[in-house]
Amino acid sequence: MQYHFDEIVDRSHTWSIKHDLKEANGKPADILPLWVADMDFRSPDGVREALKQAADHGIFGYSQADGSYFAAIRDWYKKRFGWEWQEEWMICTPGIVFAISAAVQAFTKEGDGILIQPPVYHPFSRAVIRNRRGLVTAPLTLSDGRYRMDLDRVEAAVRGGDVPLMILCNPHNPVGRVWTREELGALEAICERYGVFVISDEIHGDFSWPGHPVTPYASLSGAAAAGSMTATAPSKTFNLAGLSTSNIFIADPDRRRRFQDVLLDIGQENMNRMGLIACRAAYEGGEEWLEELLSYLKGNLDLVRRFTEKGSVPIRLIEPDGTYLAWLDCRGMGMTDEELDGFFSQKARVWLDPGVHSGEEGSGFMRLNLGSPRSIIEEALGRIEAAWEKQNA
Ligand SMILES: Cc1ncc(COP(=O)(O)O)c(C=O)c1O
Repeated sequence: MQYHFDEIVDRSHTWSIKHDLKEANGKPADILPLWVADMDFRSPDGVREALKQAADHGIFGYSQADGSYFAAIRDWYKKRFGWEWQEEWMICTPGIVFAISAAVQAFTKEGDGILIQPPVYHPFSRAVIRNRRGLVTAPLTLSDGRYRMDLDRVEAAVRGGDVPLMILCNPHNPVGRVWTREELGALEAICERYGVFVISDEIHGDFSWPGHPVTPYASLSGAAAAGSMTATAPSKTFNLAGLSTSNIFIADPDRRRRFQDVLLDIGQENMNRMGLIACRAAYEGGEEWLEELLSYLKGNLDLVRRFTEKGSVPIRLIEPDGTYLAWLDCRGMGMTDEELDGFFSQKARVWLDPGVHSGEEGSGFMRLNLGSPRSIIEEALGRIEAAWEKQNA
């Protein structure tokens, strides 16, 4: 290992929402934060160097990406996913959550239905509800420890023609599924048949475990590209979330214009200079770092799996195909969601995301972020075990 993922970097008093909001959330001061999806690792050296150079230059005026920015992203997607897109498809936005809300406004009108597949990243439903659209759900199914899309439910939900938009999570946060080409193809057939435009949120696309290649939805076919918007960002991959930089792809020119119109309506024009600089440097030079990160995260996942297999605490790991999140089935602990949250936060002093944040389908589950030094994950698992033993002594 060339990189130092074992190093514990003190993030307290850095305005980190993961580390500095303990008191505000009523958490004990010594809790281990393994909740919101950012990692406790420093970004690649090349990114930090590029940012230092920009800081030393010292002028932070309005900025726009040039061809070198597009080339860095284009090469990344071509090399790692075999996905090619046209430069004009790409629009930079200050985040994916932002872009999803803009897309909701651009592609639907008040009262339209928008489909999601819970349990899923909670800002999806928020974007629908806050924009006064109708929330339509086709929950994932869980059998034999594996989540699947319920395509019959999807079809039943959109058949009436009043659901013009779906928000897909590919790979899926929190359950860790990397949707196969076949699954996406079947979904696409339904969406095409009923005229449902798809937002494919691919922010976790760089995290997949061996044997689970990620398929960009728009790479399925020309029709899939025309019928979708792809949301990508370097923020999960290279731990850049605080730089609020994401890259959105819309192939259809009319849809693209409608999306850009909404950006102007809400006053979004230029991007953050440091975010653009970091993004280009990450995609240009971050591949080796990412490969090492993936193998380190796999070690963390193995640790969690060994812990759940040991059976000292009745928690089951839902085996992920990708993402750096571990979705833990805690239903065997026999607690309500409130009790589960209290157990982990106050008794074990480990801050996880309650599954119900991803919808009622996440009841009885907790989400653990694997993106911390191994010693922290070990400490967290030890605390959970000790608290469970104490509670059941
Ligand atoms: C599926 C998904 N989409 C989007 C985001 C956040 O994206 P952004 O910070 O660019 O708004 C996250 C962060 O956890 C996520 O898991």
